[in-house]
Amino acid sequence: MKIGVLISGRGSNLKALIEACAEPDFRGKIALVISNRPGAAGLAIAEAAGIPTLVIDHKEFSTRETFDAELDHALTKAGVDLVCNAGFMRILSDGFVEKWRDRQLNIHPSLLPAFKGLHVHQRALDAGVKITGCTVHFVRPEMDEGPIVAQAAVPVLPGDTAETLAARILEAEHKLYPLALRLVVNGQARVVDEHVVLSDADGAEVPAPLFVPSPQ
Ligand code: GRF
Repeated sequence: MKIGVLISGRGSNLKALIEACAEPDFRGKIALVISNRPGAAGLAIAEAAGIPTLVIDHKEFSTRETFDAELDHALTKAGVDLVCNAGFMRILSDGFVEKWRDRQLNIHPSLLPAFKGLHVHQRALDAGVKITGCTVHFVRPEMDEGPIVAQAAVPVLPGDTAETLAARILEAEHKLYPLALRLVVNGQARVVDEHVVLSDADGAEVPAPLFVPSPQ
């Protein structure tokens, strides 16, 4: 399976996906990394791994649709089967999302459907939740919505700031995204009635892996 990764910045999740794809039994390969920001640090991570990169600067497009058409064209040309959003900070048009329906994943640093959108960690602290985490889900037109593939629970600890909480969740993201991608690439995560059904290697339905990283 050929994977296209969309980024906007740092690229630490991209790095985790690159490492997962390098494992000998992994049945997917990252064919292209696209950034909508020219200076994104993640581009250098992809280049160092020998993965083709492309910058499609959204500022050069007058509408969301024309930007998305360029994105779609590049992914299609590279033969991409599955798109992974990894810190991609653009809202995609309905047309793009529908074209890649059930073939596009996103990671979000909360236990969805709680805390969609931006400033997630501060909002979790403000709400006083004791457990938060991260979610990998198939993309739908509404922001941070869509069938959930896997989630990791992360504790909120005394004295946490948005920064310390973000760092703890990010560590979980780096484990969760490869795990979820592997399930999808192996055909072990199927969307049925807008929910993800997970199966084991023999096709028997299984519960989601209970994924709770221990607090440091
Ligand atoms: C991650 O926290 C991701 O969940 C969110 O944006 C951040 C991207 O980080 N959508 P990175 O670029 O993968 O390091």
